[in-house]
Amino acid sequence: MLKTPLFFCGSSAIFDLDKFLISNPSVRIFLVTAKKSFKLCGAEEFFGKILKNYFVVNFYEFDDNPKIEDVEIGITLFESNNCNLIIAVGGGSVIDMAKLVNVGQANKRSLLSIVQKPENIVIKGATLIAIPTTAGTGSEATHFAVLYIDKVKYSVAHLNYLLPDVAVLYSPFTYSLNSYQSAITGIDAFAQSIESYWSANSTVESKVFASEAIKIILRSLPKVIFENAKDAREEMLYASYLSGKAINISKTTGAHALSYPLTSYFNIPHGHAVALTLAEWFDFNLGVSQENIEDMRGVSYVKEILLELSELIVGKESETASTVLRSFIQSIGIETKLSKLGIKESDISFLVRNINFERLNNNPVRISSEQIKEMLFRIY
Ligand SMILES: [Fe+2]
Repeated sequence: MLKTPLFFCGSSAIFDLDKFLISNPSVRIFLVTAKKSFKLCGAEEFFGKILKNYFVVNFYEFDDNPKIEDVEIGITLFESNNCNLIIAVGGGSVIDMAKLVNVGQANKRSLLSIVQKPENIVIKGATLIAIPTTAGTGSEATHFAVLYIDKVKYSVAHLNYLLPDVAVLYSPFTYSLNSYQSAITGIDAFAQSIESYWSANSTVESKVFASEAIKIILRSLPKVIFENAKDAREEMLYASYLSGKAINISKTTGAHALSYPLTSYFNIPHGHAVALTLAEWFDFNLGVSQENIEDMRGVSYVKEILLELSELIVGKESETASTVLRSFIQSIGIETKLSKLGIKESDISFLVRNINFERLNNNPVRISSEQIKEMLFRIY
């Protein structure tokens, strides 16, 4: 049975955190944040007040998409200051960084040995409080963390010791995101939910989380982009958390598998990279047959869940799910052509060679390298 973080949600969430700290006055806090967005989103001023009476070390010297060298610097800083509580305030990279520093400092092994063999994680780290400032990755609700070694993406997973202990969902920290940032992070949560729903590892429980997130995102993401509506921002933060809970069980599939080399080698932000092939995957999965089925539950099961997804996504009978997905993604301002994102035709073979097969195996339908290439040419 997977654990769920204790979570505080809504306008009083941050004050619940304040109460938690007051009842633990001797904490030595390792505060993980991004360099710029911590200030821009208003969290720096906010935490400056809440944390003023505590010992705090702020770790922010790392890039987006955590690298192993950065995590090692974080571990040294944590240990040399004898910290015993981690608070991560930021997007998915910040929360993933906090998870990795925490297991690294607790397990006294080389980080590489943990990445290569997560069974080497045998000790729980400090209490970890995750406070997302984007509504997208759902990292506050998952038991895995992404990091890059020499541009190759690794996902470190541990059922018990990577999941944050507490997730605080406080939407005012997302108010300052511009429409592009809101769109790509929101689409990440959307893709996570859709991929979770059709994942070969889905369960009844994960599908409940995923379908709820899909419904919320379809109605709230456009309100965030076009109206900057505060209630929609709060809903998106909750949908992102739900998408995290869904993939915490099912993991992601094809669109995420293809996204990692686009991010790592071509600097396309994670949510944008995921959005590029989401609609294509819907069409591809519709071609499920006895020859290419990956999901143990069989062809008719996969067809049934794709139909359920279509019913969730499609408003008018005349439309197909992939058409609706494509126009939804484009309508919120996300460019979906590879050629417009600085990728050359000659890069496509390179992309195919660098796909993340770990996530591809969760896709309900098996795909060949040739079919991936065709898919990438369709969106070129
Ligand atoms: Fe994602």
